[in-house]
Amino acid sequence: MKYSRIAGTGSYLPERILTNAELETMVDTTDEWIKSRTGIERRHIAAPGQTTVDLAEQAARRALDAAGLTPQDVDLIVFGTTTPDLIFPNCGALLQARLGIHGCPALGLEAACSGFIFALSVADKFVRMGEAKCALVIGAETLSRMLDWTDRNTAVLFGDGAGAVVLQPSDEPGILSTHLHTEGSHQDLLNCPVGVSRGFAPEADGRVPLFIRMAGAEVFKIAVRSLGSIVDETLAANNLDKSAIDWLIPHQANLRIIQATAKKLEMPMERVILTVQDHGNTSAASVPMAFDIGVRSGRVKRGELVLLEAFGGGFTWGSALIRF
Ligand code: COA
Repeated sequence: MKYSRIAGTGSYLPERILTNAELETMVDTTDEWIKSRTGIERRHIAAPGQTTVDLAEQAARRALDAAGLTPQDVDLIVFGTTTPDLIFPNCGALLQARLGIHGCPALGLEAACSGFIFALSVADKFVRMGEAKCALVIGAETLSRMLDWTDRNTAVLFGDGAGAVVLQPSDEPGILSTHLHTEGSHQDLLNCPVGVSRGFAPEADGRVPLFIRMAGAEVFKIAVRSLGSIVDETLAANNLDKSAIDWLIPHQANLRIIQATAKKLEMPMERVILTVQDHGNTSAASVPMAFDIGVRSGRVKRGELVLLEAFGGGFTWGSALIRF
C-alpha cells in the first residue's frame, strides 16, 4: 500500500507580539486570569496589510526548504483557513501565484480550528491515490482581523500565524490514518455570524459583527469530550495501545483542554508539544506550527509515532496518526 509521508515542515509567526500585560490595558482582564484559565502568555499579530497568504508563503517556503524541494515541485495545494485574504480566489490559488507556479489544483478548505487536519486528510488521499506527488498542506490565519477587541471573552484567546507541511508518496508509512467529524447542530456555540449570503447587517450598536462569538464553557466541555473520543477511535482503527504514541501534537487552544487529552492518553506533558503559551489559539495554523516547532527543536524525530488532533467551530474535530 502506498502512503503519504511528511517530507518537510515549516511555520511562521508575524513579528508583533501582544502580551497579556498589554491586553490588561485594552480590556478588563489580568495576566493571571489568562494564564491560569488558558495557559496563554502572548500572541502574535499580523502587521497592518499583512495577510493570511503573506504568513502562509513564509511557512510554505520553509517547509519546501526542509523537504529539499522547490515550489516548482508542488502539484497540489490544500489551504485550511477561516480568515481568507479574499472571498475568492481561494487562498490556495493566491499562494500558488505567490510561489510562481501554474496549473496545479489549489483548494481552499474551511473547517475552523480543524482546518489543517481536514486539509491534511484531503491531501493524503490525493497522494495515496497517485494524483499528487508533492502536496503543500497549509494552515494559516489572521484571526486578529476577526476579533472584537472590546470583548474579553474572546480577545485574549486568539492570535495569527501559519504552518505548512509537504506530503510525498512513500512505500513506508507515513500517515497511518486520519479521522474527521462535523456536528453542525452546535453552530450557535462558536461562530462568526455574518457572510456573503446571509449578509453583513450591523447590530444595534451599529457595528457589523465580523467577530468570533463563543460560549466558552460549553465549547470547553464538548471539546474535551470529542477529543477524548477521537483519540480512542484513532487508536482502535490502528489496533494500537495508547502507550505506542511517542508524541501528542494537539490543537493549541487552551492548556487545560490539552492536559485533559494528555491525561486520557496517560502521556506525561513532556511528550506533548506545547506552544499555546507563545501564540494563543491560531486556529488552523496551530497544529502545523506545533509540529514544525517539535521537529526543529529536535524533539520529534523520524520514525516516531505522532498523534495530531484538533477541535473547532462547526463543530469540527479530527485526528491524524503519523509515523514521522
Ligand atoms: N479576563 C477576566 N475574566 C474573564 C475573562 C477575561 N479575559 N473572560 C471571562 N472572564 C470571567 C467571566 O466573565 C466569568 O465571570 P463571572 O463568573 O463573574 O461571570 C469568569 O471569568 C469565569 O468565566 P468562565 O467562562 O466560567 O471561565 P472558564 O474557566 O470556562 O474559562 C475560557 C473561559 C474561554 C478560557 C474557557 O471556557 C475555554 O477555554 N473554552 C474553550 C475555548 C476554546 O478553546 N475555543 C476554541 C475552540 S477551538
